[in-house]
Amino acid sequence: MRGQPLRAAVVGHPISHSQSPSIHGHWLEQSGIAGRYGLLDFEPEHFEREIRALVEQGYQGVNVTVPFKEAALALADEADAIARWIGAANTLVFSDGRISARNTDAYGFWENLHPGLSDGVPDCAVVLGAGGAARAVLVALQDQGVGRIWLANRTLSRAQGLAAELAQGAQIEALDWNAAEDLLDQEAMPLIINTSSRGMKGENPIICGLAAQGPSTVVNDIVYNPLQTALLETAAARGCRIVDGLGMLLHQARPAFQAFFGARVEVDPGLRQKVERNMGLV
Ligand SMILES: NC(=O)c1ccc[n+]([C@@H]2O[C@H](COP(=O)([O-])OP(=O)(O)OC[C@H]3O[C@@H](n4cnc5c(N)ncnc54)[C@H](OP(=O)(O)O)[C@@H]3O)[C@@H](O)[C@H]2O)c1
Repeated sequence: MRGQPLRAAVVGHPISHSQSPSIHGHWLEQSGIAGRYGLLDFEPEHFEREIRALVEQGYQGVNVTVPFKEAALALADEADAIARWIGAANTLVFSDGRISARNTDAYGFWENLHPGLSDGVPDCAVVLGAGGAARAVLVALQDQGVGRIWLANRTLSRAQGLAAELAQGAQIEALDWNAAEDLLDQEAMPLIINTSSRGMKGENPIICGLAAQGPSTVVNDIVYNPLQTALLETAAARGCRIVDGLGMLLHQARPAFQAFFGARVEVDPGLRQKVERNMGLV
């Protein structure tokens, strides 16, 4: 494949909404690397065959999104410890015909959040939502040393299952949504994270009082469309420090870019503005 530009892509179904080509395109242009980053929509039944075809074609790797993250981990020849802990991969790197799985969502979540944690890593946190994104958040929090996590979900059994599956180092207690709202009205928490799709454009907003929260609480909503969710507005009105979710999307792409194209890159204001404009967020 000598002489060909380095190639990578994002793979999903559907995929047309993905910002990954714009993010990687920004860094390719900035770094002057002669690479290409595309967008591939695979039929679910052909996922594995299509991925193996990309390996044959000399791609450096792919980012993987819904609904392929578990299948990506399953087909890889090896996987990093975080991907195995999360149980899903968002990045496949191809080298010498082998497929290596990684998960950079936990990294992206923490890179976005930690500058907002001026009091250091908190000893406990409340996580709302127990879907796919919560997996990376729960792993990142435990990996950073958060020792106690309340995990709230509309479907309590799903939170209970995730707590049992992912707890390694932290005590994770499952709650139903109403119990979590009561907890947040009664007890000051250092960190609250929404990973549920509530608050996303077209979904019901999270309307809750956060009565016990104040300036020592950091509230992060990983929903990024809209950027300012009702949860973040309530938190700001209570004096909490708030962190929106767009930085998670941008930061998770950095290790993938380095793996595909060989250069370290940063999230700069120009990139954020570009993605905000593309998505109509400003
Ligand atoms: N910032 C980023 O980079 C980033 C990355 C990944 C995801 N996200 C965002 O995170 C959100 C969740 O994504 P996901 O992949 O985890 O989705 P998912 O796997 O479909 O999980 C959805 C979660 O939201 C809960 N939920 C949905 N509707 C609800 C409602 N009306 N009331 C209460 N809970 C509700 C579900 O609860 P049940 O279990 O009860 O159904 C579940 O916990 C999305 O908005 C997505 O855009 C952001």
